[in-house]
Amino acid sequence: MSSVSHAQAPIELEPDAHEELRRRIVNRGHCAIVGLQWGDEGKGKIVDLLTRDYDVVVRYNGGANAGHSVVVANERYALHLIPSGILYPEKTNVVANGVVVDPAQMIAEIDGLRDRGIEIGDNLRLSDRAHLVMPYHKLQDGLMEQALSRARGDNQKIGTTGRGIGPCYADKAQRATGIRAGALLDPDRFRRKVAEVVAIKNVLLEALARSCDEPYEQIDAGALADEYLGYADRLGGHICDSTRLLHDAMSGGQRLLFEGANATLLDIDHGTYPFVTSSNCSSLGVHTGAGIPGHCVRSIVGIVKAYQTRVGGGPMVTELKDETGDRIREAGREYGTTTGRPRRCGWLDLVAIRYSAEVSGATSIALMLLDVLSGFDRLKICVGYRHQGRKLDGFPSDAGVLAGAEPIYDEVEGFAEPVCACRRFDELPEAARSYVRYIEKFVGVPVQIISVGPRRDQTIVRQEETRAK
Ligand code: IMP
Repeated sequence: MSSVSHAQAPIELEPDAHEELRRRIVNRGHCAIVGLQWGDEGKGKIVDLLTRDYDVVVRYNGGANAGHSVVVANERYALHLIPSGILYPEKTNVVANGVVVDPAQMIAEIDGLRDRGIEIGDNLRLSDRAHLVMPYHKLQDGLMEQALSRARGDNQKIGTTGRGIGPCYADKAQRATGIRAGALLDPDRFRRKVAEVVAIKNVLLEALARSCDEPYEQIDAGALADEYLGYADRLGGHICDSTRLLHDAMSGGQRLLFEGANATLLDIDHGTYPFVTSSNCSSLGVHTGAGIPGHCVRSIVGIVKAYQTRVGGGPMVTELKDETGDRIREAGREYGTTTGRPRRCGWLDLVAIRYSAEVSGATSIALMLLDVLSGFDRLKICVGYRHQGRKLDGFPSDAGVLAGAEPIYDEVEGFAEPVCACRRFDELPEAARSYVRYIEKFVGVPVQIISVGPRRDQTIVRQEETRAK
């Protein structure tokens, strides 16, 4: 394989730093990596760093709404559905039952990776229980956004990625209209199922389109089934009972790494509902989304960006709609991997992060993009919320209350120096170290990894005793 070097580029972490990662994270057992903000925290890089110590990398939630960028040997890989463990030839990568899969997207990713010399065969497995995203889900996603906006009359939307995620999960819960990947393995049954569902969808979507003054073209069930059975030819060999596979892997002593997509504040139950995605993207989703009992996952790495970002609608207490926000956006290249949308940027919100660390049960924090904050004289950290003149007790469950909340800031010294060349905690400027200590003390979880740039080597693994409290 000519470009094997991309996949096998060494992790340029110093051996003692890597040993420390093993001691503090890997040796605890099966591990989940989850974002503690609104996504795009840089989970892909940490998954990539840890993958070498695990045997199986598992996606358990979301779909092609997620976008993981991983930089290996100066090559950037943008992955949406396929776990980033695919960059290592010897790892098994599982898209588990909790994921909603757009087969065309998955095939495009497979082809893109193969073009760059990554081998894909038995190392990629797709759960037969995972639900299929169909073209009508994407149509419904767009129409629902329009319908909502019209009904409210204020142009307010959820701001979805338009990838059909919500409607696909809704059909999964609806049952009559859900179609699982396993159905692709039996063409006759698949055709019958598609015909049944399309008959219902044509009625519902036509009415929805009419209410939005949009034209509607009836879906041809036969053509749709043909299209998807074409995908089955490509994906069929990857489809399996992934729950069985994962339990067999665990009994065989293999280590599992769960790669969260989206993030805890976008969790359908525990996020800023209704401005959330449609899956349990906190670590809680591992259990239902991969069929793994709660007690099995002992190490949970919460990924936190050194500031706050959000794409789409919904409350964001520390949002900066000014030059400071623009400066963070440009320095952090804060534009969506999936949709290219500019991300909303703001100061770090520790009230939100403490809440998500609790919900997700984070046992350690990886602090990402610290380099982006270089050059600010002062840094603000949100340590409380005020609502209608009263200080709130923690993170509110009602997005309306959050939308009306104002941040209570603590202001700390910034650091002028670039930090992207620092490889040890004691090489960071004192103000940067204080910022890190502030976070772990407030959240109550140790910051064990600090990322100071996109490359693997631009990573500090804390060597000294880190105390969270
Ligand atoms: P959906 O997942 O496409 O339905 O979008 C619902 C909300 O979640 C929107 O605000 C999206 O912008 C947001 N969202 C979904 N996935 C991600 C992600 O991976 N990163 C950041 N935001 C996301």
